[in-house]
Amino acid sequence: MRKSFRSTAFRLAAIATVFATAAACGGDPAPTQGGGGNGAPAALEGVGPITLVSGKDTSGNLQNQVDAWNKQNPDQKVTIIELPESADAQRQQMVQNAQTQSDAYSVLTLDVIWTAEFAANQWVVPLPEAEFPLDTFLPATVETAKYFNKLYAVPATSDGGLLYYRKDLLDSVGAKAPTTWAEMKETCEKIKAKPENKALNCFAGQYEKYEGLTVNFSEAVNSAGGAVVGEDGKPTVNTPEAAQGLQFLVDGLKDGTIPEKARTYKEEEGRRDFQAGQLIFHRQWPYQYALANATDGSSKVAGKFDVAPLPGASGPGASTLGGHNLAISAFAPNKKTSVDFIKFMTGEEQQRANLEATSKAPSMASLYDDPALVEKFPYLPGLKASIENAKKRPSVVKYQEVSTAIQEAAYSAMSGQATPQDALASLQTKLEQLTAS
Ligand code: GLC
Repeated sequence: MRKSFRSTAFRLAAIATVFATAAACGGDPAPTQGGGGNGAPAALEGVGPITLVSGKDTSGNLQNQVDAWNKQNPDQKVTIIELPESADAQRQQMVQNAQTQSDAYSVLTLDVIWTAEFAANQWVVPLPEAEFPLDTFLPATVETAKYFNKLYAVPATSDGGLLYYRKDLLDSVGAKAPTTWAEMKETCEKIKAKPENKALNCFAGQYEKYEGLTVNFSEAVNSAGGAVVGEDGKPTVNTPEAAQGLQFLVDGLKDGTIPEKARTYKEEEGRRDFQAGQLIFHRQWPYQYALANATDGSSKVAGKFDVAPLPGASGPGASTLGGHNLAISAFAPNKKTSVDFIKFMTGEEQQRANLEATSKAPSMASLYDDPALVEKFPYLPGLKASIENAKKRPSVVKYQEVSTAIQEAAYSAMSGQATPQDALASLQTKLEQLTAS
């Protein structure tokens, strides 16, 4: 039975293409979920030890969460398997594990962009929606966990880009957080005109060639009024707005607003430089808030920075929606324990504790308006709005190919090998091919 289940999966994988949303509008295949062989969802049974697979825990609270579970559930111990820091490397290991049908990974921490691929290939199992309080989550996060309207994961954390800025330096020149790229540049010029600030860098995001570049490119395009894909899931990158967004990154590197060094930044490299006091502005996820405010000597900017919405071409910009969802591998035993552990990790108590410990964006909506939490993290209401307005990356089975094409286009323009217009024209053609049904 399992065998025919798998061969269906392989057939599906072979023909798998395109957009889940669009495929709901024609394109991606709906997985013929079974497990019972009769179309019924596979039973989530089995109690005992499991593993939790996650990217490198740069915030340092994951083991505490797992310890809390293990204390309450000594016969269903969870062991963390930590993968690399970069999203692309994490995906690669999880895909390899699934392709060999290994039972080593039980609960998978999936980036929001991987749901379509893992669901269409039946590497993760559908989850019983009614068992999770999904109506208490931010709707945008729940949407990322679905494929063909079925739930395959539960949102554990969300993510939205924020503009971190050195409040002490902005105050010293009487500046407020900028809402446009031009204002941001002007403020940098004023700050850097002071001899003691000469060596500072103005602005950086994540521009190494990996998923972070796709995020930052998309934000630049969105923040200039463009879109990588339209509502119908069709690519729309060959537009003047998209070119203006990419031009901001290209010009920034040329005129030094963005340091050359930022082309080697993933999240952690940039965080280290922000914490060393080298950056005036930094596009980064919420997790940096707690770490950069640490008073143990690891951050030179504790208490000296604040956060604001991302700036854009002619007013506030739009963030890319990030975040991580917990899913259950189709190949691992003890699925009942996995379901219960996901409930524990995504429940209110752990989400609150995790926010307090790490400043990561929760998926549960009410925490953003909780007075005690807002006092500690004043940016929460703004972050909620930013997540609600954030733009999704394409929900496609071939997401990695789409993302690689985006990274290549952004890279070639940012390194001066192609004009933004040429890079975007050829990206449009590539994306059309990748998303054609
Ligand atoms: C963060 C986001 C994730 C994104 C990644 C890119 O981890 O939560 O969605 O893909 O950054 O580096």
